[in-house]
Amino acid sequence: MKTQELKKTAKMLVADNKGILAMDESLPTCNKRFAKLQIPETEDKRRAYREMLVSTPGLGEFISGAILFDETIRQKTKGGIPMVKVLVDAGIIPGIKVDLGAKEMAAHQGEKLTEGLDGLRNRLAEYYQMGARFAKWRAVITIGNGIPSRANIEANAQSLARYAALCQEVGLVPIVEPEVLMDGAHTMDKCFSVTEEVLHTVFDQLYTQGVLLEGMILKPNMIVPGLACPKQESDEEIADATVKCFLRVVPAAVQGITFLSGGQTAELASARLNAMNARFKSKMPWKLSFSFGRALQQPALEIWNGNDANVPKAQKALYHRAECNRAACKGEYNTGVERK
Ligand code: 13P
Repeated sequence: MKTQELKKTAKMLVADNKGILAMDESLPTCNKRFAKLQIPETEDKRRAYREMLVSTPGLGEFISGAILFDETIRQKTKGGIPMVKVLVDAGIIPGIKVDLGAKEMAAHQGEKLTEGLDGLRNRLAEYYQMGARFAKWRAVITIGNGIPSRANIEANAQSLARYAALCQEVGLVPIVEPEVLMDGAHTMDKCFSVTEEVLHTVFDQLYTQGVLLEGMILKPNMIVPGLACPKQESDEEIADATVKCFLRVVPAAVQGITFLSGGQTAELASARLNAMNARFKSKMPWKLSFSFGRALQQPALEIWNGNDANVPKAQKALYHRAECNRAACKGEYNTGVERK
């Protein structure tokens, strides 16, 4: 195992209060977001959009790494520069989504199991050669009537751990993403108990499969009430619950925790991350940072809207969200930073 390289990359991904830009939407997800804005769902539009993101001036001040989709890592800008080179030149580490999506789990209605382990060793070797230095695999856990089941939690945890071990073998830092979904009317307490069980199971499997904790990043959900829950706790209550849960189940050897945004608004995601760092930064063994998709991209996507003329404005919006979230990593985000 390339232990030193893994530790170094993992450290760099959470150094200097920076975070990760998740821009690895699969074809169906990216197309769905384009369709909402009536942007043509073509390869060239996806390239144009992603080129706009990666070439945002100054993005490397706030962003340590960017997660790409398979299509993007193979693409070049309109001017012929590989996307990977644009990132590296900006001081941003290229990463790659390597799972093949969450599919219906057999015999477990309403639950999903992520696929992509077959042939993964060869795909990882190719991505490393193309310049990726970290990877991502997302497992999805749904809260509902009688779910999640132990079968679903254990199967997803084992897949995450097998993926992580394969990544480390080739020198890619695994981002381990078990996402407990916000969909539903469940309470924050329910999210706490499910996330606690999921993370406990995931770290048990990571240990069993021989994964180096110092050479990985955890990408979890925050502990939040379901989107349809009538009781919505304050940012401070969410920060307290999230940190309490992680202190119980995330080993101190893990380099960093980079949250997904999961459907929270951009401002709420920043405010909640900020509340955690403002209250607990000096007391936590790991860095608490971000690996947001929608909460970084959505304002920029809406401004860009498929039109080249909007690129500078859209890039400003992405730069701004990245700046807000770096401030949140320091516990220094507030309305002044937001309105800047
Ligand atoms: P969101 O921040 O939009 O949840 O996306 C993060 C991600 O990478 C999901 O896999």
